[in-house]
Amino acid sequence: GDDPWEECLEVAVQLALQAGQIIRKALTEEKQVSTKTSAADLVTETDHLVENLIVSALKEKFPSHRFIAEEATAAGSKCILNDSPTWIIDPVDGTCNFVHRFPTVAVSIGFAVNQELEFGVIYHCIEERLYTGRRGQGSYCNGKRLQVSKVTDITKALILTEIGPKRDPDTLKVFVSNMERLLKAQAHGVRVIGSATLALCHLASGAADAYYQFGLHCWDLAAATVIIREAGGVVIDTSGGPLDLMSCRVIAAGTQEMASFIAQEIQTIHYGRDDEN
Ligand code: IPD
Repeated sequence: GDDPWEECLEVAVQLALQAGQIIRKALTEEKQVSTKTSAADLVTETDHLVENLIVSALKEKFPSHRFIAEEATAAGSKCILNDSPTWIIDPVDGTCNFVHRFPTVAVSIGFAVNQELEFGVIYHCIEERLYTGRRGQGSYCNGKRLQVSKVTDITKALILTEIGPKRDPDTLKVFVSNMERLLKAQAHGVRVIGSATLALCHLASGAADAYYQFGLHCWDLAAATVIIREAGGVVIDTSGGPLDLMSCRVIAAGTQEMASFIAQEIQTIHYGRDDEN
């Protein structure tokens, strides 16, 4: 067809698979681990290696495109999404899992034009599951069409969340109390798997009914947002309003009812914005 971004999507898939192979091999090897914003915010040489591989390959193929990537941002690059074609990349999502050999680790590549998300590619490197979503064309896992759950009632819901990097007492109090509120509302369960992108892929697959988090980043959200929306799901701000990719917070659900319910229940954990650093 005449999809202007078809080639970009194909290149993203190839790079995600290539990156996944490197991560899979590195998982069981000795690692150099450093910390970033907190003692629980980790980075390894593999994060840097994979980000450089992906970004340099894309720059060579698409020299006019812009890039937002996790480790370049940590090193001081600004996170700015303007109208240019922009790649939004998390080279290793679930770095803490990776460090511990907990086999839930992904590569995430999102792509936006005119500030609209066009496609997303997330590769579960250990279980070799490739998730893709293309705006207007559905989302898939290893070729199989994805569909979110239709659950609207919290008492029938399995919910996913992630902890985020802050571990000060006030943050932890709100984190735990948010879980407590959803469990008191009789959710079936709350799970923390250590990778925001793969948790969001479970949501897109209908394997969970909702996801919420404070303290994640645009590179955790960009690819997953397309995949979820194309699977029929909703991705919104924790206030209940529209998603703001740079706001470091999100609610995703199979239904608007479920997303709205969670927005009413949970309290805010304050993080800075990605575009204000
Ligand atoms: C992190 C993981 C973690 C989530 C954080 C993310 P990283 O990504 O997805 O589960 O709680 O918010 O930033 O640092 O492993 O790429």
